[in-house]
Amino acid sequence: MNLSQICQDAIAIVKETGAFLKREVEAFDKSNIEYKGAANNLVSYVDKEAEKQLVAKLSLLVPEAGFITEEGTIDKHSDTLNWIIDPLDGTTNFIHGLRIFCVSVALVKGKEPLVGIVYEPNLDECFSAWQGGGAFCNGQPIKTSNAESLQDSLISTGFPYSLAGKITDHLTILQEFVLQSHGIRRLGAAAVDLAYVACGRVEGFYEYNLKAWDMAAGVLLVTEAGGKVSDFNGGDTYLFGGQLVAGAANVHEPMRNLIASYWKNVEL
Ligand code: IPD
Ligand code: CA
Ligand code: CA
Repeated sequence: MNLSQICQDAIAIVKETGAFLKREVEAFDKSNIEYKGAANNLVSYVDKEAEKQLVAKLSLLVPEAGFITEEGTIDKHSDTLNWIIDPLDGTTNFIHGLRIFCVSVALVKGKEPLVGIVYEPNLDECFSAWQGGGAFCNGQPIKTSNAESLQDSLISTGFPYSLAGKITDHLTILQEFVLQSHGIRRLGAAAVDLAYVACGRVEGFYEYNLKAWDMAAGVLLVTEAGGKVSDFNGGDTYLFGGQLVAGAANVHEPMRNLIASYWKNVEL
């Protein structure tokens, strides 16, 4: 497989859907909100339509690949190669007209991302990477931050739709990051958070209960840009395990240590 070429072709596809999101946000009417389980887990026709567009075009690009998608508009899974798609990451922002959202698409072999693209249409920034090829924003190489410590770092995070049973651990960790870093940000789109780790705008990002579509593209961006990713134990179960800590080279391990020391179920 020519990953570089697949990446370039997929970028064009992802940007078309990003342009669709940008058009739709102008006219979005909140009467179109639907709820997925929890009262704060929102979705709309825009998420589903965006996903259908991506699936139709990516099916032609790599016909042998299956799909793992947030909105489940296609039932075609492969044991080896899948496109992992979040058609609209940052749905709550989108619905409220807060212009921080993106399209996130990755081609993944098993649990190993081969190609990753995060397109943020509001700033027209397309982050891309392929395995072994480096990471880019609008075609220019990007690198994670060279900050030397957590104290010199800006950290982003997200709150899962359900914090049941974990709220105390979560708030304690948040408090410690506030005290031990330059500060905390919560952008509302995990794939954007990871793209911003990759290009050094923030030094690190962590969240638990993420889904594969929230992070598949972003973790490849971070590693190809020189950063590190792991689960809270330092292992590699993040893609389908939900826990993710991603950071610049000198910041990942201090972040992971902080999280692990306050996360009661983490084996130290
Ligand atoms: C959500 C966003 C959010 C994160 C949630 C995700 P969605 O994805 O990435 O930042 O905190 O855990 O589920 O629902 O907007 O695609
Ligand atoms: Ca998402
Ligand atoms: Ca989504």
